Amino acid sequence: MDLTTPYLGLTLSNPLVASAGPLSQTLDGIRSLAEGGVGAVVMFSLFEEQLRRQAARDSRLIDAHTHSFAEALDYLPDPAGGAPHLAQSYLTLVERAAREIDIPVIASLNGADMGGWVSFGRDLQDAGAAALELNIYFVPGDLTTSGSRVIAQHLEIVTAVTEAVGIPVAVKMSPYFSAVGDVALRLVDAGADGLVLFNRFLQPDVDVETLEASTAWALSVPDEGRLPRTWIAALRRHTTASLAATTGVADGTDVVKNLLVGADVVMSTSALIRHGAGYARTMLDELEAYLERKDFADLDALRGLLAVPPEVEGNAWQRSSYVAAMERAKAIYGTLEGSTSGAWTSESPA
Ligand SMILES: Cc1cc2nc3c(=O)[nH]c(=O)nc-3n(C[C@H](O)[C@H](O)[C@H](O)COP(=O)(O)O)c2cc1C
Repeated sequence: MDLTTPYLGLTLSNPLVASAGPLSQTLDGIRSLAEGGVGAVVMFSLFEEQLRRQAARDSRLIDAHTHSFAEALDYLPDPAGGAPHLAQSYLTLVERAAREIDIPVIASLNGADMGGWVSFGRDLQDAGAAALELNIYFVPGDLTTSGSRVIAQHLEIVTAVTEAVGIPVAVKMSPYFSAVGDVALRLVDAGADGLVLFNRFLQPDVDVETLEASTAWALSVPDEGRLPRTWIAALRRHTTASLAATTGVADGTDVVKNLLVGADVVMSTSALIRHGAGYARTMLDELEAYLERKDFADLDALRGLLAVPPEVEGNAWQRSSYVAAMERAKAIYGTLEGSTSGAWTSESPA
């Protein structure tokens, strides 16, 4: 079956995309993902902090040796014993991947401030990146930072980068805005060609033995896919920008769910880490089997079937869906023995 999928103005062979993660850190890794069957690869992110550290080292090097900046950039590895020149290695990897691998390679920048995104975005375009994904990871830990300032900073970054580059730009955004849909549409107005819903945020756990906060990064579980699906369904009929679903995509059924609510592409990292790059083919086979079993002629026949209809009043729709779900849950759990004492257990029916 033809699974050809438009994403950010690119044409992908199918809607499954490897999201930014550790499997794209090497050319071999990117090649395995392509051979595994994904339609595109988003490379691991280059972090704003890495670019800044590197720039500081470069300028120290120039001061110390009165070398030109170009000479300093050629200096590999770092004389301080740190990593090789990260920005340069990243560009080289993008360049080689774009040349040698025949699926689109999307570069990823991760930061919260304007930093060097504009100039580095241009470098990534020149290196052959098919598109850019901006992961704007801005947690307002300073409690005096206002919501409007957070949004303004997002919009500034997106405006500056999209004005500077000619390749498509997607924004991997946070689900933690008071009005997610409004921010999403404003990001599109600012120039984003697509939105990646959602970025996953660090939520430390507590180790009661060591009395430390644990920042171990867990792979996702399928239930986490509900949050991006909720917002993709809400947004689908209100924007023509590309929508990518990321988080909790464990198998072909999760791919189908995200397409049904209106995602253009469905991304995966945790599942590909767990099962290997070749698992992409399994997920795609499951997608195709579903399409055939349900008699869908193609992806267009399926995509967005469960999106929130455009004519409904959105706030009332969200509220009435919630009330109906609560009523159903009370009917189910209210009949359980012990439920009056609030004793829900993991064995309670879902
Ligand atoms: C080990 C690991 C490394 C990751 N590195 C990045 C990264 O460099 N940039 C980024 O935007 N997302 C990164 N992610 C997030 C993934 O791209 C993805 O959005 C997230 O894991 C949710 O998708 P999943 O449920 O399929 O894993 C990383 C995830 C994991 C597990």
